[in-house]
Amino acid sequence: MMTQYWSVDETNEAAAALAAGGIVAFPTETVYGLGGDAGNTQAVRRIFEAKGRPSDNPLIVHVEDVPAAMRLAKQVSDLERLLMEAFWPGPLTLVLPVREGVVSSLVTAGLDTVAVRVPAHEVARELIAASGRPIAAPSANRSGRPSPTLATHVRGDLDGRIDGLLDGGPTGVGLESTVVQVVGDRIHILRPGGVTREMLRQAVGERAVVDGADSQAAESAASQEQAPRSPGVKYAHYAPQGELLLVAGNPADMIAAVQAQVAEAKARGLRVGVLACAEHAPRYEADAVLDFGSRSEPEAAAQSLYALLRECDERGLDFIVAEGYDERGIGAALMNRLRKAAGGRVLQV
Ligand code: TXA
Ligand code: MG
Repeated sequence: MMTQYWSVDETNEAAAALAAGGIVAFPTETVYGLGGDAGNTQAVRRIFEAKGRPSDNPLIVHVEDVPAAMRLAKQVSDLERLLMEAFWPGPLTLVLPVREGVVSSLVTAGLDTVAVRVPAHEVARELIAASGRPIAAPSANRSGRPSPTLATHVRGDLDGRIDGLLDGGPTGVGLESTVVQVVGDRIHILRPGGVTREMLRQAVGERAVVDGADSQAAESAASQEQAPRSPGVKYAHYAPQGELLLVAGNPADMIAAVQAQVAEAKARGLRVGVLACAEHAPRYEADAVLDFGSRSEPEAAAQSLYALLRECDERGLDFIVAEGYDERGIGAALMNRLRKAAGGRVLQV
């Protein structure tokens, strides 16, 4: 298959390809998505095939505005409505009871819910509006690779496997949307992301915001009260080819611990990399030291994480030591992705 490359002033051509059943990668404010007509089972099937994605992992449906989202849901509670008004357009995905027949059953992986969001990226909104239909779109990476934050990432993963790529430059947040499901008066965070727990709390007042599968507290809460889960959570994600060790805890204690890990890996003859904040980076000696930006700006680390993980592979690193961040704000999503990349290898200092 020939992949077509479009610039943002060719958005209408990309929209026409979507309307004709094609699968097209496009920028959002979080990461690049791989879109297809959510009502077209053949198009949706091709998305799963192009990514190599397991068919039991449902897709997020991207729509133009709140009314378009309402048309996909069987019903919407006051609290869900409040979240839509507070955070759309933006990096929040709501898992809603699906209205029968509005999207292909491949999109929802046969569940009775559908994940919906209104992206904040101008190009994405223009594309969706011009296509005239809801667009199912997972992140535009091969399954198991970091999500793409640049068009070149998409090209590297999917060239020849998709109909087109709309190049809108680098994405904004750099991590995916926050996926939430409202159960009664509680908001369950199924995947932390661009809308932070603090922002949710601020918007909904006294109502409970419950952390998802990530924390130990959530694990036990989940078994006790059957908290909702996201099918995607069980899959390995974002793992670089080399082994990644996450060093978490007090930044002041991190440097010595990272240095010790690097020295030990070097002694084993490995090609070693370090992912570190700008303040610490000059202190390390390794085959590659990749800079997250200042520790006072976790947003910068979120923006660069996926590109840096891809760079680890390009540089052929066997072992990567990554510094952890504070779990406040966007730091929660950043640490969630770092823990996944580490596959459970976390050194607490
Ligand atoms: O920022 C984003 O969310 C990006 C951009 C392209 O919008 N998309 C994205 O899609 O990250 P994807 O497919 O990589 O992740 C979607 C997540 C998965 O963890 C999936 O399991 C979950 O959303 N999900 C989708 N539908 C769901 C549903 N009905 N119930 C629970 N979780 C659902
Ligand atoms: Mg993804």
